[in-house]
Amino acid sequence: GRQRVDTFVVDESYRERLNGFIKKQVAEGGQVYVVCPVVEESQVSEEEEADLLLSDISIDELLDDSIDIPIPEKKKRKRISKEAAEKIENTVKREVKIPDAPKAKPQKGEKLGFGHIFTDHMFIMDYDEGMGWHDARVVPYQPLSLDPSALVFHYAQECFEGLKAYRCADGSVQLFRPDKNAERMQSTHDRLCIPQIPVADFVDAVKALVAVDKDWVPSEPDTSLYIRPFTIATEPILGVKASAKYQFIIICSPSGAYYAEGLNPVKIYVEEEFVRACPGGTGAIKCGGNYAASMAAGEKAHKLGYSQVLWLDGVERKYIEEVGAMNIFFKINGTIVTPMLNGSILPGITRNSVIELCKSWGLPVEERKISVEELLEAQKSGALEECFGTGTAAVISPVGKLRYKDEVFTIGDGTEEYPLTNRCCAQVTACGIRTRTKYSTVVSTSAVGGTFKMLGSPCCSPDNSLAAIDGTAPEAAAGGGPYAATA
Ligand code: PLP
Ligand code: COI
Repeated sequence: GRQRVDTFVVDESYRERLNGFIKKQVAEGGQVYVVCPVVEESQVSEEEEADLLLSDISIDELLDDSIDIPIPEKKKRKRISKEAAEKIENTVKREVKIPDAPKAKPQKGEKLGFGHIFTDHMFIMDYDEGMGWHDARVVPYQPLSLDPSALVFHYAQECFEGLKAYRCADGSVQLFRPDKNAERMQSTHDRLCIPQIPVADFVDAVKALVAVDKDWVPSEPDTSLYIRPFTIATEPILGVKASAKYQFIIICSPSGAYYAEGLNPVKIYVEEEFVRACPGGTGAIKCGGNYAASMAAGEKAHKLGYSQVLWLDGVERKYIEEVGAMNIFFKINGTIVTPMLNGSILPGITRNSVIELCKSWGLPVEERKISVEELLEAQKSGALEECFGTGTAAVISPVGKLRYKDEVFTIGDGTEEYPLTNRCCAQVTACGIRTRTKYSTVVSTSAVGGTFKMLGSPCCSPDNSLAAIDGTAPEAAAGGGPYAATA
């Protein structure tokens, strides 16, 4: 029948004493919760002591002591050996292991490269069908423990975002248009049948993590904190279906130039064999599968001495779509031309910013189809003045040379002067060198404001606000609930 149980947060020695009575234990946010029946020690038979019951009790049921947790009939109980019980215990201990000390930060002037170094913390939030997104927390950067059958490993139900935090001249930290990444992640989630995360929650999560790891935001010219939010399907099941469980995670990496060339012009190979995306596919969203499928072309281009691939449309292989992991712009006879969004091109946030900026400077901008033939005609007649790629990681990257079939074309007049490219680049990265632009979202490093609002989860009361994070070294959440930052 149903039996009243109590929930305890226990320390190591108490846990050992309770061991025989533990019905369930859950590690969350650096604390271990155990559930024990409310019985006198003398009432428990030898047999019952050996039972370690793993019933389906959710964390909110665990924490709500007014709820009676059903204890299944004895015959339905799952008996677990002492060895198995010890194994569970050890696993739980490993999950809550935390680093002893912060990692060494890069030295001033050290070449950061892109995506090699990771900060001290990460953000995690779980999704369970029926519960919604829950248990938002900032935890030490650490490996994930996932079931090998988790859907993400088999059917790639996964997606990611990329955005940057910049250190301003006055020492403050600001994000470049994080709401736009949040909106794009919503459409990505929709396309992949992943439940949405509200824009405000996404932005708050980014702010919360960056506030905790604010000392990792580099200040050297052309550096930033690259922020990588991603969602993975974690349900352990091999049937092809949308997962009933997910994790949304954010990690951060202090980074410099994405390309080895830095802001020097890159050489591009026009790819005719492989395509990146096609109508009705997933080109317009940021899912990992797009990048897996792009690698063969990337390898081919590298072998030929080119740093990126120029992607043509997936139907006629005639119209220009993107360049590597960037959108592409041309200046032809004084007009700025970029391929129109057609469902297979990623709607880049840098792309959108450059269009807005160019329009605000009074420059003519055309979003339209542009064929590779038209481009090469423009190059031959001298009308093609500049060409550049736009993306968060690479920011603005001038294209110096294009190889199409067996011909190599040089962009511009050969002087390698790219005034428009440089102007766009300066304005987009102004976030990092000036104080504020219209695209800035400031991260308060003294206090992360507001309650971390969660969808559909009764366990996330306002008390579980990430407002507790004050940007100083976070303390273990002593009594602060399992969702606060833990060091
Ligand atoms: N296109 C692709 C395929 C990308 O991976 C990226 C990178 O995010 C972009 C374009 C540029 O998008 P954004 O400017 O939002 O970074
Ligand atoms: C970005 O520019 O943020 C990207 O996602 C490109 C990348 C795949 C490194």
